[in-house]
Amino acid sequence: MSSPLVFSGNSNRPLAEEIAKRLKVGLGKALVTKFKNEETRIEIQENVRGSEAFVVQSICKAANGNGVNDAVMELLLMIDALRRASASRITAVIPYYGYAKQDKKTKGREPISAKVMANILKVTGAKRIVTMDLHAAQIQGFFDIPVDNLMAMPTLCNYLKKEGLCDDNIVVVSPDAGGVHRAELFAKRLNSTLAIVFKRRPEPDVNEVAEIVGDVDGRAAIIVDDMISTGGTLDKAAQAIRQRGATRVLTVATHGIFAGEAVDVLESSAIERVVVTNTVPFTNVSLHPKFVQLSIAQTFADAISRITTNRSVSELFGEDISPFDISAPVPKPAAVG
Ligand code: R5P
Repeated sequence: MSSPLVFSGNSNRPLAEEIAKRLKVGLGKALVTKFKNEETRIEIQENVRGSEAFVVQSICKAANGNGVNDAVMELLLMIDALRRASASRITAVIPYYGYAKQDKKTKGREPISAKVMANILKVTGAKRIVTMDLHAAQIQGFFDIPVDNLMAMPTLCNYLKKEGLCDDNIVVVSPDAGGVHRAELFAKRLNSTLAIVFKRRPEPDVNEVAEIVGDVDGRAAIIVDDMISTGGTLDKAAQAIRQRGATRVLTVATHGIFAGEAVDVLESSAIERVVVTNTVPFTNVSLHPKFVQLSIAQTFADAISRITTNRSVSELFGEDISPFDISAPVPKPAAVG
């Protein structure tokens, strides 16, 4: 079996380079730029005939200022170019799967953007998707091709354990009802208790805390989320938890998008530390000591290596917790304070 070919768009090239390095291959040669009229211009610059090709591209703003929609076009046109150049199988490696928030109609005349993304990826020629911590696991069902939904949890939990944040004096907090399952998995791994914040969204990108279930009084709280966009969810949750007596508040999230004023919001929040992974590149937060970025390149490199050699990907996450299993044993929430 020949080595996989790993190509990268512009949205998260440092991560793609790190993944390639860990796979002991160089990044595939490709021109990924724009014509003068701003249309995306792609040229694959090496032979890919009969090869297993991976395109690494997060659906996010790039460090070079390119927008989210540029990331989508680069990904699609790279897949198209590889297909037309006779690559044997093309996998879209999308560390952060953007356009995932609209995964259902919440009112009339809205699109289901996550499904549109799935449709165009498949039609363009992707034969497999590798991603991480989808906003909603059900998005896997929008595809009729295999989807490996990897987890950042082992990397984030290892960090918390090294920091000594892993006993029954810690409470893991889900900042909304949708994140309860994720928080349960963290609480189990960290031997900690669980609390849940119920939030309301009066309008997009605005939220209010409605209620907290579980005891946070006298404990260090770790809020676990899939993504940080405006930072509003975490800011409001942290305030509410501190008011209920938590001694300190830290947060971990897979995707640090940090949109708009998020960095300032989090800087002035009650949150002591904000830990994210590098599925989205740091663009505006590297100077703030409160922010920590962990690399998940090894997880992607391991997944690519296993896919190339037809080995199990779920084994990466241990027997106790499968990324595909939503029925893992659940710790009980602590008594309400
Ligand atoms: C919501 O369902 C997500 O899990 C995140 O909590 C949310 O997207 C974070 O957004 P923001 O940082 O804008 O509050």
